[in-house]
Amino acid sequence: MSNVSFLEHRLHHEALTDAQKLSLLRVMIANDGFAEGLAHKAFQNKGGAVWRDIQFLLFDINLRMMRDGFGLGTARAEREWVLRNTIERIEQQYLPREQVPAHLNTPEEFLVWLKDRIYKHRVNHSPLFDYFDRDDLTDEELRYFLANYRVNMQRFHLHVAAFSLIVPFEMREELYHNLHDEFGQGDFTKAHPNLFEPLMNHFGGAREDDVNAETCHLLNTKINLCWFADGLMPGLGGMGGLELSIPAQQKRVLAHLRRRGLGPELVEFFVVHCELDEDHGDGWFAAGLPYMKTREDFQKVFDGAMRMLEARAGVYDGILAGIAQRRGIRAQASSAA
Ligand SMILES: [Fe+2]
Repeated sequence: MSNVSFLEHRLHHEALTDAQKLSLLRVMIANDGFAEGLAHKAFQNKGGAVWRDIQFLLFDINLRMMRDGFGLGTARAEREWVLRNTIERIEQQYLPREQVPAHLNTPEEFLVWLKDRIYKHRVNHSPLFDYFDRDDLTDEELRYFLANYRVNMQRFHLHVAAFSLIVPFEMREELYHNLHDEFGQGDFTKAHPNLFEPLMNHFGGAREDDVNAETCHLLNTKINLCWFADGLMPGLGGMGGLELSIPAQQKRVLAHLRRRGLGPELVEFFVVHCELDEDHGDGWFAAGLPYMKTREDFQKVFDGAMRMLEARAGVYDGILAGIAQRRGIRAQASSAA
């Protein structure tokens, strides 16, 4: 067995804690050229063990960056940059490629087409929301859903803020307007992360082991598209796509929460979002319109939107799989009893 496959074997087959896994993964990645091979393996088998480990590793690096900064001038910054860049370069090779139809030549025509594609995306038809429609979720399953939702919700404003660094001056107006909404329009107690907490706590709070690899992947994707973007277009597509598609999903969550009998204070987060985000989506694209000029721009906006929505759909896939697993375990336990 080669060194590398020995390490890989250890990574997946021994009872290691997450922290141990991460440090082992760092050792493997420090091996020359290993990150490259590992990343290919990960994206050839999306959702598999290597892919999951890579998402947790990047997530860990990203949380540290948000806590301690990038660390310019340190060995950490250099190591993490190589890792980030390698993983992103290889992930891009495995992204599905769909061409924007040749007849779309003006930004206005393109936007009509894009919005239609966003509404039709599978993220809006995730079977997870059928559970909400049917009121078919236990308190524990709802807690688990909220815990995963919370990971990205808490940091949403940071992507807007970071992305604004490369957004043209005029377009920043829209982004800062969005940030103002995210922070409760001047009332910090109504900042969206603060609105979410009473609901989260009502169901027992979030636990670290709730967080799925798919949830980490969405955060990692947003960071790649907004913080470390290659130009304006991918983030414009990605964030606009999210803002346009999310209210339809949140309406179904909200209706379910109300049928559960939760009071106005507990559902306020979802009430606010059903009203605000659709405006945000239109606002993003309207503000970006002057900069989407060429067919190449359209393609990048479209690719960014689809990549982001696919990552978001992945979050729901992960939650569905977690629910199915919990139900399977429960069914086994009750048939054994
Ligand atoms: Fe929000």
